Amino acid sequence: MSDRAQLKIGDKTIDLPVLVGSEGELGIDISKLRAETGAVTLDPAFVNTASTRSAITFLDGEKGILRYRGIPIEQLAENATFVEVAYLLIYGHLPKQTELSAFSELLTRHSMLHEDMKRFFDGYPGTSHPMAILSAMVASLSSFYPAALSVKNKQEIDITIGRLISKLRTIACYSYKKSMGQPFVYPKNSLSYCANFLNMMFSIPAETYEMDEDLVKVLNQLLILHADHEQNCSTSTVRMVGSSQANLFASVAAGILALWGPLHGGANEEVLEMLQGISDDGGDVKKYVELAKKKDSGFRLMGFGHRVYKNYDPRAKIIKRAADKVTKKMKEPDPLLEIAYRLEEAALTDSYFVDRKLYPNVDFYSGIIYRAMGIPTNMFTVMFAIGRLPGWIAHWKEMVDDPTTKIMRPRQIYTGPTEQPFVPLAKRG
Ligand code: SDX
Repeated sequence: MSDRAQLKIGDKTIDLPVLVGSEGELGIDISKLRAETGAVTLDPAFVNTASTRSAITFLDGEKGILRYRGIPIEQLAENATFVEVAYLLIYGHLPKQTELSAFSELLTRHSMLHEDMKRFFDGYPGTSHPMAILSAMVASLSSFYPAALSVKNKQEIDITIGRLISKLRTIACYSYKKSMGQPFVYPKNSLSYCANFLNMMFSIPAETYEMDEDLVKVLNQLLILHADHEQNCSTSTVRMVGSSQANLFASVAAGILALWGPLHGGANEEVLEMLQGISDDGGDVKKYVELAKKKDSGFRLMGFGHRVYKNYDPRAKIIKRAADKVTKKMKEPDPLLEIAYRLEEAALTDSYFVDRKLYPNVDFYSGIIYRAMGIPTNMFTVMFAIGRLPGWIAHWKEMVDDPTTKIMRPRQIYTGPTEQPFVPLAKRG
């Protein structure tokens, strides 16, 4: 394959360098295009456009491959903890024991919110969507840690990373307790990251909370599976905001809001609403598969399809197995899991989905597990955010550490009116 591409525009032909990624992906470098031709490229939704080089995550949508810093997601989900994977993504290697102990200690020491910040929750109605609270509280963290405001304060970055990973979990649990009208539960330094989350969510002063180690393991797996996914919508948002040298709290607060969208991280909440709707309507999955095929129906099979995966999302395979395991622990089998299985089978044997390579994605089964854990539907995207946080941080840090980073400022193709004069109000008819 040539390491150059040729572009003919008008009577001009220019040579463009072709970059080859470590897994053989090809990228045509057009950084000189406008200077040499006056033209820009147009690629709505950036379907064909790489925004950056990155060494963090590799995924191959055709083959259903996902690796964090080269390590297959299947091996990480089976053998690692979420804290280890967070370190791997952010610092580029699996931590040695000393590094893991120091990182865990950092998260343990910075899990509480400033007591003034706890009072912010008094102002929110109990019906507030927790994603709105999460983003607002993360942005507000910058008020309590002003030294983190300048990205040039390199010595502040590591403690800011620890504070954010630990406190995001606390903010999430407090938003749940607020919605339940229950007292906030403080973090416990004796508990691991995921066990602390379960305790802050579900323990109540009136009784001792019994930790279920199976749920701790499944939660570690779920957070690992959500931890990064290269240049997805919310990660690109974090990079875009961070490219203006906005601080980490501001960049992540923006990423949280991008994730909230129903086409992105908000899909896991939509999947459960969809499954519940199918169940309430008698469980006729064929009817909904047919509805999803009708463009004008406005209905999509949420949790199906993916911009990059044109094969089964490797994360969905692992989550499906975990959903099976967790729901078997429930007193009653979950009718929505049975509907999900039937919906998947009906869709994957239908030419509309097969032809468009629409498979279950990470969001299709995750909500079933969260529901089995007792996590309410409106917290599902918050769970996605807790998992994705290390990925957002890793990409923000990779960008901030890169001396060639410039502020992102895409071009456009203008299609509005050509020059016309101002018309005074009296003459506007
Ligand atoms: C995430 O980018 C990432 O990496 C994201 C993510 C991550 O880890 O960060 O993986 C997390 O966001 C997963 C996706 C969660 N979203 C959903 O489950 C929502 C439902 N899925 C879709 O809306 C859709 O599949 C997207 C948004 C995920 C992808 O959309 P694309 O790439 O823009 O594809 P498209 O909308 O152009 O669809 C291609 C065709 C269209 O039909 P035609 O116009 O070719 O006839 O497939 C159809 C679409 O109508 N289609 C669907 C469908 N998804 C696509 N039809 C029915 N149901 C669906 N779910």
